[in-house]
Amino acid sequence: PAPLRVLADRAGVRIGTAVDMTALAEDTTYRRTTAREFNSVTAENVMKWESVEPRRGVYDWKKADELVRFARAHGQVVRGHTLVWHSQLPSWLTAGVADGSIDAEELRGILRKHITTEVKRYKGRIQQWDVVNEVFEEDGSLRNSIWLQQLGPSYIADAFRWAHAADPKARLFLNDYNVEGVNAKSTAYYELAKRLRAEGVPVQGFGIQGHLAIQYGFPGQVAENLARFEALGMGTAFTEVDVRMILPADETKLATQASYFRRLLDACLGARSCTSFTVWGYSDKYSWVPGVFAGQGAATLMDEEFARKPAYGTVREGLAEG
Ligand code: G3I
Repeated sequence: PAPLRVLADRAGVRIGTAVDMTALAEDTTYRRTTAREFNSVTAENVMKWESVEPRRGVYDWKKADELVRFARAHGQVVRGHTLVWHSQLPSWLTAGVADGSIDAEELRGILRKHITTEVKRYKGRIQQWDVVNEVFEEDGSLRNSIWLQQLGPSYIADAFRWAHAADPKARLFLNDYNVEGVNAKSTAYYELAKRLRAEGVPVQGFGIQGHLAIQYGFPGQVAENLARFEALGMGTAFTEVDVRMILPADETKLATQASYFRRLLDACLGARSCTSFTVWGYSDKYSWVPGVFAGQGAATLMDEEFARKPAYGTVREGLAEG
């Protein structure tokens, strides 16, 4: 049967995965499968600030470059992840802000330089950028980060303007988790997107991560949520889909998981604005979930031996019907 990417091409969508660059270098099955099944890739970690500028002014693009090269060699597009986040910041930056040696004015310049440098480096080679990641709390208030504290809420519009200036053709995204359905957090994004676009700020996409857990149920009003962003003229994308469960996995849980993957995919395929569906890793061998949620896992399309789980089958069916 055809790989996912062949069906995705026919359906006119991108099927993507986050890529673990260590696994890509060391595991030939992983490398082969990544090339065979996906036509879009996202760096799981290596484009984040702590990776690309570990010491101030000292850049390390090696692994990010490798991914971009891999993608080009295999006819894949790249989603850039992520420019402004509260997490995985280099320690020189967080320490400098904490001890007062970097003040707000300097910090703004540092952020501008970071965005400009990274976006320019990959100009023309990154289709969509997650410009700001996870800026709202669950209740819809802005997340308390060094960015909000030091720069105020205008850092969001600034980040989009700087990214756009560096690569005018890249599609620029907001991105977050727990925003699949209509809720306080996704509504905060909707209001933000509406306001930014009214002000002429170059924001073109809403990224829905899609980290689900079967024990919490499937989110409500996913189609309605996509539709309201689409009505603003925004693109949409599922950017980090996985569906975890309390271990051990069994047939019932895997069937529920498969249906959750399928329902998210169907929401994407049913929305004109949604042209990209990315999973956050596709083998349980390399999933971030067990390391963060003790006792949970089995969150991806394939098990630790790369055997296809029921979720792989439903995603394939969904794309085939797409
Ligand atoms: O690079 C070090 C390595 O040198 C060290 O030996 C190793 C030992 O723990 O740690 C390595 O860093 C880890 C890094 O992944 C790279 O593997 C960090 O500890 C670990 O915390 C980090 O986790 C990543 C996490 O973001 C950090 O917040 C996950 O792999 C990655 O999947 C996850 O991705 C995020 C998205 O960016 C945003 N949305 C949520 C999603 C899941 O949390």
